[in-house]
Amino acid sequence: MERLARELHHHNYRYYALDDPEITDQEYDRLLRDLQDLEDRYPHLQLADSPTQRIGVAPLSAFEPVEHLQPMLSLDNAFSDDELHDFERRIRDRLQWQGDLELVCEPKLDGVAISLLYRDGVLDQGATRGDGRTGENITANVRTIRAVPLRLNTDQPPPVLEVRGEIYLSRSGFERLNEDARSRGDKLFVNPRNAAAGSLRQLDSRITASRPLALFAYGAGYSEGWTMPDTHFQVLEQLREWGFPINPLVEVAISLDQCFDYYRRLEARRDGLDYDIDGIVYKVNSFSLQQRLGFVARAPRWAIARKFPAQEVATRLLDVEFQVGRTGAVTPVARLEPVFVGGVTVSNATLHNRDEIDRLGLRLGDGVIVRRAGDVIPQIVRVVPSDDKRGERIVFPEHCPVCGSDVKRIIVRKLVKGKLIETEGVGYRCVGRLVCSAQLIASLTHFVSREAFDIVGLGEKVIEQLVHRNLVDGPVAIFNLTKSDFLSLEGFADKSSQNAVESINSSRTITLDKFLYALGIPEVGRETARNLAQGLGKLSRIRIAYPEVLEFLPDIGMVVSREISNFFRDSHNSKVVDELIEEVDLVETGKLDPSLAQIATIDEYLTKLAIPGVTKGIAKKIAQVGSLDELFKKDFQFLDGLSLPEKVTREVIDFFMNSENFDNAIGVERQLRDFGMHWSSHKPDVDSPKSSLEGQTWVVTGTLEAFSRDQVKSYLVEAGVKVTDSVSSKTDVVLVGANPGSKLAKAKKLGIRILTEDELLKLLEV
Ligand code: IVH
Repeated sequence: MERLARELHHHNYRYYALDDPEITDQEYDRLLRDLQDLEDRYPHLQLADSPTQRIGVAPLSAFEPVEHLQPMLSLDNAFSDDELHDFERRIRDRLQWQGDLELVCEPKLDGVAISLLYRDGVLDQGATRGDGRTGENITANVRTIRAVPLRLNTDQPPPVLEVRGEIYLSRSGFERLNEDARSRGDKLFVNPRNAAAGSLRQLDSRITASRPLALFAYGAGYSEGWTMPDTHFQVLEQLREWGFPINPLVEVAISLDQCFDYYRRLEARRDGLDYDIDGIVYKVNSFSLQQRLGFVARAPRWAIARKFPAQEVATRLLDVEFQVGRTGAVTPVARLEPVFVGGVTVSNATLHNRDEIDRLGLRLGDGVIVRRAGDVIPQIVRVVPSDDKRGERIVFPEHCPVCGSDVKRIIVRKLVKGKLIETEGVGYRCVGRLVCSAQLIASLTHFVSREAFDIVGLGEKVIEQLVHRNLVDGPVAIFNLTKSDFLSLEGFADKSSQNAVESINSSRTITLDKFLYALGIPEVGRETARNLAQGLGKLSRIRIAYPEVLEFLPDIGMVVSREISNFFRDSHNSKVVDELIEEVDLVETGKLDPSLAQIATIDEYLTKLAIPGVTKGIAKKIAQVGSLDELFKKDFQFLDGLSLPEKVTREVIDFFMNSENFDNAIGVERQLRDFGMHWSSHKPDVDSPKSSLEGQTWVVTGTLEAFSRDQVKSYLVEAGVKVTDSVSSKTDVVLVGANPGSKLAKAKKLGIRILTEDELLKLLEV
C-alpha cells in the first residue's frame, strides 16, 4: 500500500507540477483502484495522506469557520498604463529607490482563492478566503482535487507551511460539466468561476470529487521552520518542486516597459487559454522590499492587479420584461438575442431602472452593445440604431404588470452628515405588497428557503401553484396547509404530499435568527438577523426596540435600524408576526449579549444625535451625569457644572426642549433599563474580563492549544463563570478548540456566542 501511494504521489507530481506525465490516465486510475481495493480490505492500514482520499467522504452538516494564521489580503486595481506608472512611482518614492525594480508578472486567475495548510509536509487543512481573516474549512473537498498535493514532494518539509493559490475550472472542464448537467436536465452553471465556487462549497465532498477542479499556487502564507528564499519568484520555483502547479506564464520583468509588453502579449492570448483570467497581477519580487513597503488597509503596497477591460459585443434587443421582486421593486430586464461574451452566453441584461431606459432611448429590435465585466450582470452600454424603421419605444409601466397596483417611486433613506434624510430614489415599486402575487410568491419563497424556515420540498414552483390556487395568502397560511391541499397540486402524489406536510411541521421549531431572517425585513440579511438575535435574545425586545437601541448592535446603523423598527410598527406586519408566533415554536436564548451592556454608553448615544457642537469629547463630559433622567433634572442644572462652551450648552438644551427628542430620549433610556442594559459611562472594558464574565455559563469543547482544559476552567471559575458540560439555551458562551464536535453545532443552532481560543486570549490580554 505504501508503494502504491508513493507511486501515485509521484505521478501526480509529474502530471500537475511538471505537466509531464509518465503514464496514461487509465494506468493512473488502475493504480488508484488497486490501492482502493487494498484499503477496502485493510481499512486500518489506510495512510493519512492516501491518494484515495480524492474520492471524497461522507457529507458534512456545515463548514466550520477557521481563522487564517495570516490574513488573506486582496489587491488594489489598476485600469490603465498610467495607473501602473503611478503604482511604480509610489513604490520608488517610498523606498527611495532608483535602481532596477523587478516585478513578477502573473496571470490573474478568475477562480476561488484557497489557503492550503501543510503540517510536516502533509495536507492538514484547506480553507476559503472568507472575509480575509476567517474562512471556511473545506479540507474534505480540497483533498479531492488531484492538483492539490496531499504530501509535499520532499523528505524535509517545513513543519508548518501555508500555500495560497487559486482553485479554478478549466473552460473545457466547465463545458464538460455543463454537458453532463444538460443531459441530466439539471440547471447549467453560468461560468467557470461560479461552477468552481459552487463545487467547492458542496457539503458532500463526493460531489466535489466529480468536478474537474484545478489549482495554480501563487504564493506562500504563514510558515514555521522554513527559511524563505529572497524573492517571490524563487518561492514559486520551490513550490513547483514541492509539487504545486505554478502557472507557466509567470515571468519576471525588470522594467515597466516589460510589464506593459507582458500585458499586451497576455491580452492577445487571453481567448486562447483554457482558463478564465481577468487581468494580471504585478508583485515586487524582492521580499525585503515587500517588507519595507508593507500594507494599506487590506491590500499590500507591493502588488497590484491590472484588470483587462470589460468585453463588449453587439446583439439585438428582443424584448423588455418588468420583473417584480420581493419588496415590490420593478426591475426592467432586457431579453437579448443570445451572444457569447467573456466566456458565457448572454441572453439577458439588466436595465437597472427607468432613467436607464430613457438614457439609452431603447426601442424594440434595436441593435445594442452589451458589456460584461467579471462576475457582474451584463449591461447594455449603448444603442446602435438601425437606419430602417425602428420598433416601439420601451415605456416604463405606470401599473404593476402582475397585479395592476400603482407603481411609485421608491423613497430612500440616506445618512447625510449624520442626519437621516429621505429622498426620491431611482427605483420604482409596486405598492400592492402581498396583494401582488409576484411579491407574495417571492416573499414566501424567501420564507421557506434554506436559511429561513427551511421547508424542504416547497420551492418556488410549488409556492407559485399554492398562490395561484388561493391556497395561501401569506406566511401564516403555510402552516395550515393539509395533505389534501398538496394532493390537488401538480406533481404531488400521496407520499410527497405527506412529506410536504411533515416538513412544514418539523420547520415549526425555529431559532430566533432564522425567524427574523424569514420575515424579509428590508435590509435584514442573515448576518443582521444573527446580530439582532444574538444581541437582544428575544423577539419581544426586538419588536419594540427603539432604533437608537438597535444601533448599539454590531453593524446596525441608522438606516437599517429604522427599517427594522418601521417593519414591526406596521400594523399588518405586526398582525402577521402575532399569528406566526402562535404557529411556531421559537427557540430564543432570552439573553442580552453581555458586551452590549457595555457598548450602550450615554456619550455614544449623544454623539449619534448629532447635536451641533457635541463632539465625542464633549459627549464624554456630559456622560458623567450617569443618566438622561438626571441630565434633564432642574432645567439641565448638571450642564452648568461642566463649563462647556455656552453655545454648546444652548444647543443641547434646545435639542431636548423639542418634545419629540425629549420623549425619545426618555423612551430609549427606559427601554435600556427594561432590557437590563444600563448606561455604562465608559467604553467596554475588555481588560477586566472578570467583571464582564461574572455570572455567565460557559461550555468548553475541542482541543485547546494555549491552555489545558483545567487551566481554562480554573481561570473561568475564578472570573465567576460557571463551566458546564452540555450546551443548552442557558449557555452564554461556547469556547471552541480544534476539532470541536456536536457541541459547536448545537451552539450555532441556538445562536449562542462562540469564542475561539484566540478571541479568549484577546479578551484576557491585560
Ligand atoms: S496574490 C496579497 N496572485 O485575486 C496578494 N492573487 O484580490 C494576494 N488572484 O482573491 C493575492 N490570481 O485569489 C494573487 N496570481 C495571483 C492571483 C490572485 C488570482 C486572486 C486572489 C484574490 C484576488 C486578489
